[in-house]
Amino acid sequence: MYDLLVVGSANADLVIGVERRPAAGETVLGSDLAVHPGGKGGNQAVAAARLGARTALLARVGDDAHGRLLLDSQREAGVDTAGVLVGGAPTGVALITVDPSGDNSIVVSPGANGRLTPGDARGAAALFRAAQVVSTQLEIPLETVVEVVRNLLPHNRFVLNPSPPRALPQEVLAACDPLIVNEHEARVLLGAAPGIEPEEWAAALLALGPRSVVVTLGAAGSLVADADGMTRVPSVRVAAVDTTGAGDAFTAALAWRLGLGESLAVAAGYASRVGAAAVTKAGAQESYPTAAEVEALR
Ligand code: RIB
Repeated sequence: MYDLLVVGSANADLVIGVERRPAAGETVLGSDLAVHPGGKGGNQAVAAARLGARTALLARVGDDAHGRLLLDSQREAGVDTAGVLVGGAPTGVALITVDPSGDNSIVVSPGANGRLTPGDARGAAALFRAAQVVSTQLEIPLETVVEVVRNLLPHNRFVLNPSPPRALPQEVLAACDPLIVNEHEARVLLGAAPGIEPEEWAAALLALGPRSVVVTLGAAGSLVADADGMTRVPSVRVAAVDTTGAGDAFTAALAWRLGLGESLAVAAGYASRVGAAAVTKAGAQESYPTAAEVEALR
C-alpha cells in the first residue's frame, strides 16, 4: 500500500547562485554550477518519503547520467521507483538561478517528462489500486494528467498543483481535492482580474469546480477553502536560503496528511512547517526535512 502516488516530472536541476537574476538582454556572472535532483514530481515523492510516507513515483527519465542521479535520489529517500520508466528522450533539465533572498527563476526542458504518455498512466493501474492519494503537477503532458483523473479509483483522493499553470479541463478541475495554487498560478487560472484578497481568489477558484482549494501565501502561510468555509493557516518564520522546491514539499506533506484523515486546515498547518524547513537549505530534494525536523520547527 502507498500513502501517496506521485505522477509527475523528474528533472536534473542545474543551479547557479547570482547576485541578481538577469533582465532581458542582460548577462550576469554567477557561482559555480551545482547539479541537484529535482522536478516537481520527483521533489514531491522525495519530500513525502522523507517524512515517512509510503510513496511511489510514476515518471519518465532518460537512460543517462541525469536519470541515474534522479533514480538514486528517489531510492535513497525510500520512494518505490518501480513506476519510473526509463528512455525515450534525455532526462528533463531545469536551469535555475537563485538570488541572495532565496528567490529563483526556472526554465525547464521537459525531455523525457514530455514522453510520459496517457498509456503510461493506464499501464500503472496497480499503483492506483495501492495508493490512498494521487498527486500530479503540470510538467508532464496535460493529456496524461487527464488520463490520471480518468483512472482514479473511488478510494483515491486527487491533489493537483497546476505548475507551470495553464487552463485546465473541467474534468480535471472537478477531481481536485484540493487544487493547490500560489498567487501566480491563481492569476493564470482566473484570468486578468481575480480580485485583491486571497479570499477572493479562493472563492473564484472554488467556482471553477474543485472540491477544495489551497492558496499558498509564502511566508504568510496559506488559505484553505472548501464548501464549509475558508481558514487562514499561518506559517513559521525562517531565514530563506533557497525557495526552490518548497512548494513541492508543501504539496507532498499536505497530500500525505490528508490521506491520513487530517482536515484541510490541520494538514496545511503541518505542510507549512515542511515548506518552511525546505527553504532553509540549498537545493530542492536535499533541503527536505524528516518528521523529527518538522516537529522541532514550532
Ligand atoms: O518546483 C521546483 C522544481 O521546478 C525544480 O526542482 C525544477 O526541476 C522545476 O521542475
